[in-house]
Amino acid sequence: MEDEVLVSYSTGKLHKRRRQCSCLPVVCFTSLIVATCYVTFMYIFRKYSPVESDFDNEKFLYNERNFINLISVREFKLAQPPAPANSQCDLVDENEKFDCFPESDASQMLCEKRGCCWSVPKQVKKWNPIPYCYFPKDFALYKFVNLTVADFGATGFMKAVYSSPYPNNIQLLKIDVKYETETRLHIKIYDPVNARYEPPYPEVPVMNSAAKNTQYQVDLDKTKTGFRVIRKNDNKSIFDCLNVGGFIFSDQFLQLSAKLPTNYIYGLGEHRSDLLLDINWKTLTMFNCDQPPENQKNLYGTHPFHLAVEKGGKSSGVLLLNSNGMDIRLQPYPAITYRTIGGILDFYFFLGPTPSDVIEQYTELVGRPLIPPYWGLGFHLCRWGYNKLDNVKEILEKNQAAGIPVDVQWNDIDYMDRRNDFTYDKVNFKGLDKFVDDLHKKGMHYVVIMDPGVSGGEPNGTYPPYDDAIAQDILVKDFTGNKPLIGRVWNDKSTVFPDYTNPKTVKYWMEQISRQQREQFKYDGMWIDMNEPSNLVDGSLTGCPNDTLESPPYVPAVVGGKLRAHTICMTAKHFKGYHYNLHNLFGMSEAIVTNFALTEITNKRPFIISRSTFVGQGKYSGSWTGDNVAVWDDLYHSIPDVLNMNMFGIPLIGADICGFQKNATVALCQRWYQLGAFYPFSRTHNSNDCVAQDPASLGKDVIDSARKALTIRYRLLPYLYSLFWQAHIKGDTVARPLFFEFPSDVQTYSINKQFLWGPALHIIPVLTEGMTYVKGYLPKARWFDYYTKKEIVNTGENITFAAPLDTIPLLVRGGYIIPTQDPANTTTDSRKNRMGLIVAPDEKSEANGILYWDDGESIVTYERNQYNYLSFHLSGKTLNSTVDVWKYKTDMLLGSVDLLGIKSSVSSVVVNGQAYKNFTYMSDCQYLHILNLSVNMSQPFVITWS
Ligand SMILES: *[C@@H]1O[C@H](CO)[C@@H](O)[C@H](O)[C@H]1NC(C)=O
Ligand SMILES: *[C@@H]1O[C@H](CO)[C@@H](O)[C@H](O)[C@H]1NC(C)=O
Ligand SMILES: *[C@@H]1O[C@H](CO)[C@@H](O)[C@H](O)[C@H]1NC(C)=O
Ligand SMILES: *[C@@H]1O[C@H](CO)[C@@H](O)[C@H](O)[C@H]1NC(C)=O
Ligand SMILES: *[C@@H]1O[C@H](CO)[C@@H](O)[C@H](O)[C@H]1NC(C)=O
Repeated sequence: MEDEVLVSYSTGKLHKRRRQCSCLPVVCFTSLIVATCYVTFMYIFRKYSPVESDFDNEKFLYNERNFINLISVREFKLAQPPAPANSQCDLVDENEKFDCFPESDASQMLCEKRGCCWSVPKQVKKWNPIPYCYFPKDFALYKFVNLTVADFGATGFMKAVYSSPYPNNIQLLKIDVKYETETRLHIKIYDPVNARYEPPYPEVPVMNSAAKNTQYQVDLDKTKTGFRVIRKNDNKSIFDCLNVGGFIFSDQFLQLSAKLPTNYIYGLGEHRSDLLLDINWKTLTMFNCDQPPENQKNLYGTHPFHLAVEKGGKSSGVLLLNSNGMDIRLQPYPAITYRTIGGILDFYFFLGPTPSDVIEQYTELVGRPLIPPYWGLGFHLCRWGYNKLDNVKEILEKNQAAGIPVDVQWNDIDYMDRRNDFTYDKVNFKGLDKFVDDLHKKGMHYVVIMDPGVSGGEPNGTYPPYDDAIAQDILVKDFTGNKPLIGRVWNDKSTVFPDYTNPKTVKYWMEQISRQQREQFKYDGMWIDMNEPSNLVDGSLTGCPNDTLESPPYVPAVVGGKLRAHTICMTAKHFKGYHYNLHNLFGMSEAIVTNFALTEITNKRPFIISRSTFVGQGKYSGSWTGDNVAVWDDLYHSIPDVLNMNMFGIPLIGADICGFQKNATVALCQRWYQLGAFYPFSRTHNSNDCVAQDPASLGKDVIDSARKALTIRYRLLPYLYSLFWQAHIKGDTVARPLFFEFPSDVQTYSINKQFLWGPALHIIPVLTEGMTYVKGYLPKARWFDYYTKKEIVNTGENITFAAPLDTIPLLVRGGYIIPTQDPANTTTDSRKNRMGLIVAPDEKSEANGILYWDDGESIVTYERNQYNYLSFHLSGKTLNSTVDVWKYKTDMLLGSVDLLGIKSSVSSVVVNGQAYKNFTYMSDCQYLHILNLSVNMSQPFVITWS
């Protein structure tokens, strides 16, 4: 069957198969190729619909080129806006000043030429963030021509009346307001005459019907500019750009500012910051970049989405679906300014009202995250600089001998032959094929790194990844559109880049992977690195042309000062357009193609970790937080970094445990393995100039700490896996900020040194060297110590927890039941063990929990109804289960139950109607432990005690 799939691909008949699937869905879904068809249908049908794409692309390129070159001929000669009256300037409060001169060379004269106000702020400090040059009240470059309100929303046309300081102002704009669902509003501002670039991913649903009973209304007024989004139930405006100055829509500078409902703003990635964003005149630049996580820098991914939480907990979210480079500025009004250098202004608003609701609504739009294979939730061992397969084996064996559970071995670029993709070093990594086979025999898995670019410098006929790319014409082209753009990454001489937006690249990428799997070794997952894309030369080996795409009138505050710094030319051409527009989508496009290819080739759930990410990428891959550093501050920052990606719908996320750069210390690693055991994706990795930092190489203290924490992780994997399933079907977060569960508790809004797994497990790591206790805030709820099972007396305060060097404080929240499984050294083995339940009652002695279970590796098990779903309920002195779905045939036995908070002594336990003797009750901890059970979980069970 797999052969057939490959054959159909190698003949290039992607399109034909697509049609078969779409025309014959019944045959497709009932045949043996159900999975591949399903995936083909899902991924190719809509994404790479060839007829439409070819057409669109030509039309698009034509328009785009036409536009950039000819617009000035077509453009009306618009007047500059008049100088503002002083009264209009005086009306503006300091925090309400929207910057009219984001470039560096502001002066009063140039400012007033823009029709803006100039004043030196009252408090002149060394550096004053308040703009000197700001928009006056009622500043407007556009006026409505007409505005039609309808059932589905509204449509309006706006005409430019004055010119912005940026070239090629769009003279006519259309605004479409669409009530898409009760909680989702779509507002799109675009050029109705010449189609402009819009990101091809993520796919968002196109709504044909209008929602009734919306939780929002939109204020539009023909005599004003902009709009205001209002939450109906309390008339609060959640996004207000009505008559807010600074709306600009020129070819390469689009700007919109809005007043926000709260100071509590989260999201806007990818950046290094606290979880709660600093709104004190901070600019967040989004332009994917190979930049180690540092404050105020644009990092690997782009997520122009924020969550706004108002005191009391009412929350809303906003997405600007735009993939061009941009700056987003926050200021303390509170207000936000979007400043993007291309595309259109395409906004989505999510009404919540809880933070979780917002994320569910967001991922419903941009794509729900995938469920990783079960083994992907095990512990991953990796480093750059093993240098030899013998070292890989030795370190792996040492860790296994030390009792560290390991599911996955990884290799960085040192496994490759001269750092070329789809090769391996046959000298230093001789026997890699057998090593990988042996891992598989032990129930383990293997993941390799892959760079997005392939070598361009190998002799003709010796390196198929290059020869095939030329023959199949799938490389990213330079500005001429004819020749491949040549850069240099890790390869000896030069690097060329497959164009993952080209539908033909799917076949190409699949051929390279399947050839390597056939002829070399069979990896189980791919680590796609350097896909911002990173380039060690700026632009290309021969530079870039001098052009408005390379040097637009406004350059966001990108690292390196130029758009092409450390990446390819903005004039480079992809199938779907200029790199200028597609840059932030490069990693996402690679993830989409890789996800498809691996699924087809292995017929299993793909495991992919991508450094670069964009909106909605969680549907195709996980990620990690990049090249962090082995210092305590980075240990802390990994928490907000992980929580942010969860809010972006990419729950499969972790930081390199113990840090990537710099030598780690024992003290740091002891704590980092503990925290890392609770990253949704748990991997250690470091650089080739650092000493080994796997637990076994660092000695007993780190081994003890890592083994203890990772063993708990393995015990809790059924819970973690069920959370990933909930993320997949509902869009919930896996690692979760406290305020998601306690949105009315303002104390939780800035907490990012503690976090939750789902609703029920609270993690309070030690983040300071030498401390053996840690302070944590406990929101009002019943909480139980994971280790002693004892209830913690809590009144909504800071509490000090003992945290010996080998222990990370963990709490279980009352009201929840956590499914567990006896741990083992791999998930393949732990999955054969008995299950357990940790039952923590709330104030009413009630608790609930669920378990989602399937074979852990087949694709679309949920969608194909090949899973089990159980729910557990505690009420008073009765614990029972409901078997809601049991479609995956497996032996599953319940072996133990931990009942916490049992206040009165227990003298008898009854399991399914029969007295059961094997239990202990610890009165000091109020803990009932029922052990050595053998209850068949495919049937409902009842356990009572008295
Ligand atoms: C609104 O104005 C635009 C642009 O002038 C025009 O094309 C459109 O037909 C008008 N719509 C209505 C309903 O008047
Ligand atoms: C590689 O060799 C083939 C066969 O000789 C030839 O057709 C092709 O043009 C060569 N390609 C390059 C890039 O030199
Ligand atoms: C690029 O072109 C612009 C406009 O033609 C010109 O002013 C500038 O000097 C050129 N820059 C370089 C580096 O050639
Ligand atoms: C780490 O320590 C080793 C051994 O002391 C040393 O050779 C190496 O330079 C150090 N690496 C870094 C990044 O400091
Ligand atoms: C808990 O401690 C933090 C940090 O010291 C402090 O900011 C916060 O106000 C405290 N919360 C309570 C409820 O005392």
